[in-house]
Amino acid sequence: MSRIAYVNGRYLPFRNAKVHVEDRGYQFADAVYEVCEVRAGRLIDERRHLDRLERSLAALRIRMPMTRAALGVVLRETVARNRIVYGLVYLQIGRGVARRDPAFPQPAVAPSVVVTARPLNPKRLEALAASGIAVVSVPDNRWGRVDIKTVGLLPNVLARQAAIDQGAREAWFIDKSGAVTEGASVNAWIVTQDGKLVTRQADHAILGGITRAVLFDAIKGQGLTIEERPFALQEAYAAREAFVSSATQIVIPVVRIDGHVIGDGKPGPVATALRRAFHHYAEAG
Ligand code: PDD
Repeated sequence: MSRIAYVNGRYLPFRNAKVHVEDRGYQFADAVYEVCEVRAGRLIDERRHLDRLERSLAALRIRMPMTRAALGVVLRETVARNRIVYGLVYLQIGRGVARRDPAFPQPAVAPSVVVTARPLNPKRLEALAASGIAVVSVPDNRWGRVDIKTVGLLPNVLARQAAIDQGAREAWFIDKSGAVTEGASVNAWIVTQDGKLVTRQADHAILGGITRAVLFDAIKGQGLTIEERPFALQEAYAAREAFVSSATQIVIPVVRIDGHVIGDGKPGPVATALRRAFHHYAEAG
């Protein structure tokens, strides 16, 4: 089946789904995005994703191109037209098309809106969850506002490729003090030897993941303790468990960091239980 994308007001076959050469998203990464899981054809945690989208847009002073309700209709329509049962929907909103000049266009132009959707392979993700993944650490060389979900992802691209080049799947960014911030496309977590869950506080140094936020409810639901604080790479090497979280992967256990075996080298019980419990706490729209 051919794929359909929503581009600035129209649903188009992929081969015709194009943006202008002077789109500021293309030239300056002057755009934000969201990725939502689709499960049984329904959007997962749409409300929280749209909340974060509005925060990202406000931080960059890009206006919402349409109401939240209208955006929800476009997301759903794109999912339906692509017949996605299990997969993801991608939404990108940029400052629009204007002659190339870093300053905001004056007068303002219409924001650009693109929505795509694609299926995910559940078996592949389940296999990853069952085996666990390896991660490598890389210096965090990103800008100071990675809490804004912009499409300016070059450090993430290079980090992810560095991981793959070293036979790992994901990269963890390390700040100047030697603490883990987050992964290239995931939030980073450890379980300490005394069973506490640790993830960095959601300040300007990480993206406040929606999966991360929902996991807080799941963790409390299981009677476990969370500590939101920086954790050093050395602490991660010695952790009982480690895992990553994101909308498309939910929870994936980490069994190796920079070649150090985590715990017994197998996915741990806490990560596995949280993966199973997640959708009980998420909202399906
Ligand atoms: N990535 N940190 C970074 C840098 C991310 O890019 C993501 C999401 C997350 C997790 O956020 P959430 O739980 O809201 O998905 C954390 C998306 C999935 C992506 O870029 O494809």
